Amino acid sequence: MGKCCNAKCGLIASVVVGGILVILGGIINVVYLELYNKILIQESVIAPGTTMYDNWISVATPTYISYYLYNMTNSEEFLARGPYVKPNLVEIGPYVFREYLSKDTVDFLNTSPEQVYYRQKTTIVFQPEMSSGDLSDMVTTVNVIGASMVSIVEYIFEQLGQPVDPNVYKLVNAAYIATSTKLIFTRAVHDILFGFQDNLFDAIKAVVLNRTGVEIQDFGLFSTYNDSRGWFDYQVYTGKG
Ligand SMILES: *[C@@H]1O[C@H](CO)[C@@H](O)[C@H](O)[C@H]1NC(C)=O
Ligand SMILES: *[C@@H]1O[C@H](CO)[C@@H](O)[C@H](O)[C@H]1NC(C)=O
Ligand SMILES: *[C@@H]1O[C@H](CO)[C@@H](O)[C@H](O)[C@H]1NC(C)=O
Repeated sequence: MGKCCNAKCGLIASVVVGGILVILGGIINVVYLELYNKILIQESVIAPGTTMYDNWISVATPTYISYYLYNMTNSEEFLARGPYVKPNLVEIGPYVFREYLSKDTVDFLNTSPEQVYYRQKTTIVFQPEMSSGDLSDMVTTVNVIGASMVSIVEYIFEQLGQPVDPNVYKLVNAAYIATSTKLIFTRAVHDILFGFQDNLFDAIKAVVLNRTGVEIQDFGLFSTYNDSRGWFDYQVYTGKG
């Protein structure tokens, strides 16, 4: 008899507890969803103090850039016997840089919905342990300055709508001779990527400035990349208002 009551009580208790749990579960589910959405929306807004803002103003996910260069290993033979000798190129690198992306000149605008103006700032830092080689490695490659200066001078005159003055050609030619510029040169990897002082470049820069008043920008394949504020102005909605 006692045993039977126990079983009965147990059954009733189970049903009651089960019922309470179902109701509680339902309430928690609704409250949780409400809370979750509220926090999600709150934290997704671009405004100081939100989770979104911290990662937006300074991107935490690391990004990397790898540079590879081609090193010419038979430059003397190539320069001496020109078209009869194939250039022998050996790939070197990677030279790896960690990219730090952040927002610069951030300005919250008084619009409705609210908008924010900014520039994307990029800073790169060399990662020796991820790289194969150092930025001081010497690489023999096409002399990008020597190979491109004539075209650059012609382009500047073309932009001004003027024919190139024959005297300018003479001065440019004199600069090539005075600096004994060759088609192939040997420079440090850092120089190739980020620029360096070059006598031919300086001489031609002075000629162009003298004849046109145009100042040629400094040389370097990626000379403007580090600490740059990008090319564009951005204006986006913050999610507020
Ligand atoms: C590039 O090639 C030159 C000539 O063969 C060599 O002396 C130099 O060490 C090479 N540079 C790299 C980074 O391997
Ligand atoms: C880029 O600039 C930062 C600081 O302005 C400097 O620490 C870093 O070495 C620079 N990177 C290169 C590749 O020159
Ligand atoms: C260009 O160079 C010539 C000769 O050196 C000089 O007389 C002239 O003033 C220069 N012109 C400009 C615009 O610098």
